[in-house]
Amino acid sequence: MIGSIALAVVAAASAAIASPLELFKRTSPGTGTDNGFYYSFWTDGGGSVTYNNGPAGSYDVTWSNVNNFVAGKGWNPGAERVVSYNGTWSAANVNSYISVYGWTRSPLIEYYIVESFGSYNPSTGTQKLGTVESDDGVYDIYKTQRVNQPSIEGTSTFDQFWSVRQAHRVGGTVTVKNHFDAWAKSGLKLGTHDYQILATEGYQSSGSAKIEVFEG
Ligand SMILES: *[C@@H]1O[C@H](CO)[C@@H](O)[C@H](O)[C@H]1NC(C)=O
Repeated sequence: MIGSIALAVVAAASAAIASPLELFKRTSPGTGTDNGFYYSFWTDGGGSVTYNNGPAGSYDVTWSNVNNFVAGKGWNPGAERVVSYNGTWSAANVNSYISVYGWTRSPLIEYYIVESFGSYNPSTGTQKLGTVESDDGVYDIYKTQRVNQPSIEGTSTFDQFWSVRQAHRVGGTVTVKNHFDAWAKSGLKLGTHDYQILATEGYQSSGSAKIEVFEG
């Protein structure tokens, strides 16, 4: 915590002579708030990941030979909000996702509304439970289980709920309520909301993304 405050001070001090781009400040793994948005930057430590919070709901992230990381900005708690975002993502040919991503507790659930995935479809090997039409697209619904994996409650066994957009995109509006409602109809019940971010994830890959998220 002290480290990130020191970095922020350095970034502010140099801003007077720096370009606006350099207002993006390098952020250590962890969670917090930045410019009115919640952020989460998690990595399992493999390879290197540079994550920078930017103005408002913006961030950029560059990763190289990682094992697994998830990072982005949004809100805590998550809700049935309308989430909009825009930006760029350089990882369409490697293992990476751009998603509305969040967690609930009781039950512990990790959920994804996947807007784009790269070389690996996260629903591989699982059974489609249904589809939901939302925001000019069709999303496939899945459930998977994680056994003894990292979570917001430490190493745990929990379900993952998925909506995976058939026609990939980077940028647009995600009406989260449509997904939560469709999941409930498929028997997928969320718990009490923890954080909800517009996440970039990388798995055994290298890439970069620059994203801005906002509500409405
Ligand atoms: C998102 O769109 C706004 C408005 O066009 C633009 O100013 C901003 O640079 C974009 N953000 C990113 C990360 O591309």
